[in-house]
Amino acid sequence: MTFVAPPWAVDGPNLVIEADNMAVLPHLPAEAFGLIYIDPPFNTGRTRKRQSISVVQSPRGSRIGFQGRSYETVKGQLTAYDDVFADYWAFLEPRLHQAWRLLAADGTLYLHLDYREVHYAKVLLDALFGRESFINEIIWAYDYGARTKSRWPAKHDNILVYVKNPSHYVFNADAVDREPYMAPGLVTPEKAARGKLPTDVWWHTIVSPTGKEKTGYATQKPQGILRRIIQASSQEDDWVLDFFAGSGTTGAVASELGRRFVMVDNNPQATATMRRRLASQEGVRPVEFVIGGDTWSV
Ligand SMILES: C[S@@+](CC[C@H](N)C(=O)[O-])C[C@H]1O[C@@H](n2cnc3c(N)ncnc32)[C@H](O)[C@@H]1O
Repeated sequence: MTFVAPPWAVDGPNLVIEADNMAVLPHLPAEAFGLIYIDPPFNTGRTRKRQSISVVQSPRGSRIGFQGRSYETVKGQLTAYDDVFADYWAFLEPRLHQAWRLLAADGTLYLHLDYREVHYAKVLLDALFGRESFINEIIWAYDYGARTKSRWPAKHDNILVYVKNPSHYVFNADAVDREPYMAPGLVTPEKAARGKLPTDVWWHTIVSPTGKEKTGYATQKPQGILRRIIQASSQEDDWVLDFFAGSGTTGAVASELGRRFVMVDNNPQATATMRRRLASQEGVRPVEFVIGGDTWSV
């Protein structure tokens, strides 16, 4: 793994770094980020191999998690069910440790998954962050693509929300764009005009294949989803981190909302997409690209 020491400074430029995130994260300073959003790929390209995980029968487990939980025991029991998930978690776990370290004392982590991973991940994150740090499971519901007739067609993603400190974290309910009432006739005209605060179920279209938001990056997420997350869980001028950045949706929206960002992705197509995207977006503060030891600004 190449060593990458990103030139991050609290008053420095936004950064886009092309590298394996595990080569970057340990070099960023602790508690620097008010918000971390990640949308990791399930297929991490690792070769499948059975992990041998020992389950320690001590009430506190073999290693103490962030909140003193028996994390090792929970992990052993859960990953024993599913080899593929065990490999996936082995990939994600050190990165989540870094996420926790990098979160500001009042910071929030959004982990974007789908129905295949989310239940394991919830239990593991409860053990890792502490159950009291779990704030929400957001369901992003969409209506797109083929519909199987052999079961209920799965048309949603799951976003787990954890805070570092459940007694003190940022949540700007009033800053979130409101949405129309489903039955506006049942509320006063003033309320109907103002709209309602979104719940934890978000109906939102996928990125339209013909819309102007589209970058061509296959796994691009909609700006509307990131807008809500960033409005609610960060303050202006905060640093926002996405270390599975893809097409850079997080950076594009963070910048639009007056936040600063660090984006990391190890795929050259992702950094090329971010370069095009951020260069064509108005008002992005200086962005420094760090690619293979070279650094340049747009
Ligand atoms: C699901 S996509 C993220 C899409 C993004 N949310 C967007 O809106 O475009 C996951 C990204 O993680 C990147 N990735 C996978 N493994 C990585 C690693 N070890 N280090 C950095 N990036 C990685 C992939 O290249 C891919 O772009």
